Amino acid sequence: MIKRREEMDNNEKKHKRRVRYSGTHPKTYKEKYKEHQPDKYSETVAKVIQKGSTPAGMHLSICVDEILDFLQIKPGEIGLDATLGYGGHTLEILKSMDKKGQLYATDVDTIELPKTEQRLKDLGYDEDILKIRQMNFSNIDQIVLESGPLDFVLADLGVSSMQIDNPDRGFSFKTEGPLDLRLNPRRGKSAAERLDRISKDELEGLFIENSDEPYAKEIAEAIISEIRKGNRINTTTQLQQIIANALKFLPQKERNESIKKSCQRCFQALRIDVNHEFEVLYEFLEKLPNSLASGGRVAILSFHSGEDRLVKKSFQHYLREGIYSEVSSSPIRPTQEECNLNPRARSAKLRWAIKA
Ligand SMILES: C[S@@+](CC[C@H](N)C(=O)[O-])C[C@H]1O[C@@H](n2cnc3c(N)ncnc32)[C@H](O)[C@@H]1O
Repeated sequence: MIKRREEMDNNEKKHKRRVRYSGTHPKTYKEKYKEHQPDKYSETVAKVIQKGSTPAGMHLSICVDEILDFLQIKPGEIGLDATLGYGGHTLEILKSMDKKGQLYATDVDTIELPKTEQRLKDLGYDEDILKIRQMNFSNIDQIVLESGPLDFVLADLGVSSMQIDNPDRGFSFKTEGPLDLRLNPRRGKSAAERLDRISKDELEGLFIENSDEPYAKEIAEAIISEIRKGNRINTTTQLQQIIANALKFLPQKERNESIKKSCQRCFQALRIDVNHEFEVLYEFLEKLPNSLASGGRVAILSFHSGEDRLVKKSFQHYLREGIYSEVSSSPIRPTQEECNLNPRARSAKLRWAIKA
């Protein structure tokens, strides 16, 4: 009798279908389980990319050919990929190194870094050739203490698609999630905590300086008024709603588009602030000349005017000082074809410099 019951239980277990999502298609980041397993479901992933989207849990590397063309990496060289992310650029660099030399790679993200490290290990790249460090690229001097002068450096600034698309990270106003926005969620203050203590003037200044937000005053006033009423802003959609309400005075025909753009800019401004992005980029740019070997090359991919301005100024300053022998005269942009396939490439600007 007991045996029959066990058999029945086993059969039930065998036939029970795992419910992965409701409806006919997966909609949310987590439901897209096929996209999270590119090795197993390569056809699905290829279709998503072909349609001009980034598969969930993946990042499409930008300007790969342009970067490799400039870096001209030779086997045996020592280099740094300062922003490991999904490891797409890292992998292409490793291929050009032909298993000879040393590649260091850094990232602050404690959630994505172990996954990328494992993926690259599974492809045969372990500590012998690839040295991954969970750290801020502003500490490039610490890497150089270990590596010696670097023959090449790549920095692909900003956030990865895995970070933007995962609602738990709070980077996007399009999906409900905690208002966090930290690249390393184990350190510092979340955006919600930052808003708890900020003054109206500081918030307005932050929106203007970090993202050129034209409605900075109105939005800062609306946010601070909510917080003063005791309504803490805990989620991405709460903040999106406050921004939308603050812009209700705009003419109806332009309102929705303006709200979307202001949300993009305000979320970006908060992200820059929470992660001290300008400060760490400045420190990195200052330390670069002493980190590079003579003839060493650096390529930096930026995604908004504030970042690009810092990179351009630093490269030109050290060119005038004779520390760089050559720098890009104007930024290299991704091709139209790349932008069609990956709309996230549209704002990218690539600049490079060569150490004298
Ligand atoms: C655009 S993604 C890089 C994507 C990567 N090149 C690829 O092909 O997959 C930027 C990455 O840089 C990381 N990052 C941003 N600022 C950083 C910093 N100051 N130090 C280290 N990593 C940083 C982010 O966590 C993110 O993973």
